Amino acid sequence: MTLDTTPTATATTPVRHEALVVGASGITGSALVDHLLDLGWEVTALSRRPHPRDGVRTVAADLRDPESLRTALAGEQPTHVFFTAWQRQDTEAENIRVNGGMVRDLLAALSHAPLAHVALVTGLKHYLGPFEAYAAGEMPDTPFHEEEPRLDTPNFYYAQEDELFAAAERQGFTWSVHRSHTVIGHAVGNAMNMGLTIAVQATLAKELGLDFVFPGSEAQWNGLTDMTDAGILAEHMVWAATSPEGADEAFNVVNGDVFRWRWMWPRLAAHLGVDPARVVGFDGTARPLEEQMARYESAWAGIAERYGLTEHDITRLASWWHTDADLGRTMEVVTDMGKSREAGFTAFRRTERAFADLFDRYRADRLIP
Ligand SMILES: NC(=O)c1ccc[n+]([C@@H]2O[C@H](COP(=O)([O-])OP(=O)(O)OC[C@H]3O[C@@H](n4cnc5c(N)ncnc54)[C@H](OP(=O)(O)O)[C@@H]3O)[C@@H](O)[C@H]2O)c1
Repeated sequence: MTLDTTPTATATTPVRHEALVVGASGITGSALVDHLLDLGWEVTALSRRPHPRDGVRTVAADLRDPESLRTALAGEQPTHVFFTAWQRQDTEAENIRVNGGMVRDLLAALSHAPLAHVALVTGLKHYLGPFEAYAAGEMPDTPFHEEEPRLDTPNFYYAQEDELFAAAERQGFTWSVHRSHTVIGHAVGNAMNMGLTIAVQATLAKELGLDFVFPGSEAQWNGLTDMTDAGILAEHMVWAATSPEGADEAFNVVNGDVFRWRWMWPRLAAHLGVDPARVVGFDGTARPLEEQMARYESAWAGIAERYGLTEHDITRLASWWHTDADLGRTMEVVTDMGKSREAGFTAFRRTERAFADLFDRYRADRLIP
């Protein structure tokens, strides 16, 4: 089946395709902007500190300030919204208030716009529970399927979904929800970035003569898992936004292969040029990066200087806490893609290739030596 996601008129898609990417400088949002530009869409990019980019109109607005949003969006006429913004709060109650509110206020500020579809990216915390009870309470069996009922625990993804459903009803657009696993992609200064975190860990290990130690749990080292490349997430969101089969549905979205970290870790080490003798797997206890790497962080500025890297502030590159949380889960986490495939989305990525391509891109952009 051929997917038509180009802005050509068809019997089932509107003639004009103008995308508003909300959170466009993030790991998901920036891959979406790339993909939409490749497809020839008109693209408007919203964030608080927009990155200027050829062929993209930028809107600077704070999603937590409804007045600023109304003013910034008053003249905008997007047909499709891709919502990829979030802000981590200290408690799930605050996550719900802030992140649910951002979806509500953004869509309210677009009540004048000719919206055909709004796509929202969430994640596997839908099944695993919120950060404060992450992979720790009652959970559905793996692989996770979309039709599982919500958990009893409060969750900001549920609040965002509910705001989306209510606005769709009120404003007459179709919606889709995209539940991704750990996202790997290209962003700097964002909240959760496993690819860049591992690349920075490997760089410190090579430069300082350290072991390259897997930080996670036995279950993650030995069990099956999967992952979401930001490029495939972008393709999935555009597919759902432009296909009748994608309308008013929630979908999981992962690369389509499964792997074990005990297989992947040495391969990533090789792609990052780590001496095989310094590669250490799970050896009986988790070794979180927040503890492993804290004392070496101050070396980064010197490494950046020596190799002419673009970012001297390691805190804008490595999100140790998040990689620790994902690799520290004490259960297997795999994701079913059957619903997407049955609906016509058949794209896939090989995860090792996605990592290798990403590391090449980090090198080309002088983020790592
Ligand atoms: N990254 C992962 O591994 C992963 C995995 C599974 C699920 N998810 C989920 O995917 C969704 C998107 O996450 P992400 O990782 O793509 O996000 P991200 O890389 O941290 O990017 C967040 C984006 O939102 C913008 N933003 C944040 N607060 C804003 C505000 N108040 N007003 C306007 N813009 C704001 C940021 O730009 P400014 O700071 O310039 O405003 C940035 O463009 C989240 O729900 C996340 O939980 C992520």
